[in-house]
Amino acid sequence: MKTVYDIKPADGKLGILIPGIGAVATTFIAGVFAVRKNLGKPIGSLTQMGTIRLGKRTEKRCPRIKEFVPLADLKDIEFGGWDIFEDNAYVAACKAGVLDRTLLDQLRPELEQIRPMPAVFEQNYVKRLTGTNVKQGKTKMDLADQVREDIRTFKARRNLSRVVMTWCGSTEIYVEPGPVHQSLEAFEQGLKESHPGIAPSMIYAYAALAEGIPYANGAPNLTLDIPALQQLAKKNKVPICGKDLKTGQTLMKSILAPGFKARMLGMSGWFSSNILGNRDGEVLEDPESFKSKEVSKLGLLDFILQPELYPDLYGNLYHKVRIHYYPPRGDNKEGWDNIDIFGWLGYPMEIKVDFLCRDSILAAPLVLDLALFLDLAARSGLSGIQEWLSFYFKSPMVAPGLYPEHDLFIQLKKLKNTLRHLKGEELITHLGLEYYDE
Ligand SMILES: NC(=O)c1ccc[n+]([C@@H]2O[C@H](COP(=O)([O-])OP(=O)(O)OC[C@H]3O[C@@H](n4cnc5c(N)ncnc54)[C@H](O)[C@@H]3O)[C@@H](O)[C@H]2O)c1
Repeated sequence: MKTVYDIKPADGKLGILIPGIGAVATTFIAGVFAVRKNLGKPIGSLTQMGTIRLGKRTEKRCPRIKEFVPLADLKDIEFGGWDIFEDNAYVAACKAGVLDRTLLDQLRPELEQIRPMPAVFEQNYVKRLTGTNVKQGKTKMDLADQVREDIRTFKARRNLSRVVMTWCGSTEIYVEPGPVHQSLEAFEQGLKESHPGIAPSMIYAYAALAEGIPYANGAPNLTLDIPALQQLAKKNKVPICGKDLKTGQTLMKSILAPGFKARMLGMSGWFSSNILGNRDGEVLEDPESFKSKEVSKLGLLDFILQPELYPDLYGNLYHKVRIHYYPPRGDNKEGWDNIDIFGWLGYPMEIKVDFLCRDSILAAPLVLDLALFLDLAARSGLSGIQEWLSFYFKSPMVAPGLYPEHDLFIQLKKLKNTLRHLKGEELITHLGLEYYDE
């Protein structure tokens, strides 16, 4: 393991390219513009608000994360992206209905500049949407080449020194990896033959990695979870991470479940139900897109609670997740959780959580942090899966054979220790015996 990192400075401008200029992307972009103009604060963003303790508690060293590691400054960020709809970011943000119109109007000139490039799209992968701003190509390799050209043009025209890509597009249908995904060679052959198993999100990811650009997967799509793209990331020394931003109900799960387990309280059931009315909710009405989301949402309780180690406590857990599209709610989702737990001698108790949340308000700061941390990872010479960014995901990517860490508090410790490690600072173990030595 490397111990000395030569982290390149964050000189020049950073481009953030986003497939999918919808609710999450526009809330993120408008938010960055608002912060730059001092119209709001970047609440929820660890890179902007967070601190990191260094050394012993008695040393009282606690710099801000953005002062400890060299991150791109918000004023040095440029945005671009693709969508199947032609709406510029101002129109798309108004339609998404997350941010107030009065705020959006103050940001209108900047937002109107962001016009989505034609998308790589295949109806079969997102059944509920149809758009006209779509690329045409003879083969999927042609489409990948067009995206690569878009990236190069964006970088040159905006005079950028670095670019990262974050998928904020719709949830694609559930796909199992097949032979075409097993090696880079098979995948590239598949692109040339327009193999039906290659999803649009994979084409963007392939283009990004081929151009040496880090890629984060904000949706539950299979995209990067295939050997082919992981091989390409390693070959071109590009960092990648995913998948599915951990907001709302899953965030609550990864906060609450470690607490029950820490106290050795048992659990017999966890039923999660959601109503939401945004476009994401509409796409998730399609059972095949919902399946991607369901798999991504269901995984974490088993990993946190470890029923194989605690059969008496979690051996009979019934975990169920439902999402209902309900237009009147727009982006303001309501998530109900009914948690059946049991304590001393098996006596049952119930906990009800009713989270009236704002999905994109929770997601936007994660998109920012991921872009800035991926850029830091690239400048530090890290490549392949960035497990330290698990903190942000519902289904964190890990090396083959490892199980993912879902406990939010372990994830945060891992993230901060990675930053300490990159800077050659002592890792914090929380042992603390030295404070009591004679
Ligand atoms: N909001 C959250 O809290 C949250 C949390 C986790 C994951 N996500 C995921 O993030 C994604 C975006 O969510 P949203 O609420 O912004 O949805 P949205 O529907 O508002 O935006 C998605 C956009 O992607 C576009 N799109 C679809 N396929 C595309 C393609 N192939 N290329 C380019 N654009 C494409 C759509 O036209 C749409 O404008 C979804 O996959 C969602 O599941 C959101």
